[in-house]
Amino acid sequence: MGKVRVAVVFGSDSDWPAMEKCVERLCAFGEEPVVEIMSAHRNPLRVREFACGAKDKGIEVIIAGAGMSATLAGVISAHTTVPVIGVPLGSGFLQGLDALLATVQMPPGVPVASVGVGEAGAKNAALLAIQILALHDPELLEAYQAFKITQAEGVAKKNQALQDRLNR
Ligand code: RP5
Repeated sequence: MGKVRVAVVFGSDSDWPAMEKCVERLCAFGEEPVVEIMSAHRNPLRVREFACGAKDKGIEVIIAGAGMSATLAGVISAHTTVPVIGVPLGSGFLQGLDALLATVQMPPGVPVASVGVGEAGAKNAALLAIQILALHDPELLEAYQAFKITQAEGVAKKNQALQDRLNR
């Protein structure tokens, strides 16, 4: 097992379907993240303990997903110097608008890098974490560059299929 450099935490088991996409992406790049349910509202002491200990455990990026009045990412950021990426999740009556505003509108001095709402945001959080780690990991940078090339090729393939259907 390699060095554990990323933590993926989220407020409830109901967040897992979206956050699973984040974990999958990290694993695809060879990362083996810590994955844990913790809630800033429901078990705040565990959140504090996790955030305060993350740096000493070697965690270099924390990804925190939460829905509704989403405070998890912000509370973690308040307790650590490790960069925190917040994933607002669609849940409850407002389906993520509440979580988006809570995640993105941090007061000055307590940064959270917010990605978009839901699965797309969860996937991008993983990629952003990879980009951060790749700043000092040439092998990971190479893998990330290969990912971007494959992605671009996928678009070109889809375009070619469309052109073929249109007989052009
Ligand atoms: C948030 O409340 C969680 O992150 C979740 O998105 C939302 C609802 O949680 P459950 O009631 O499904 O446990 O803290």
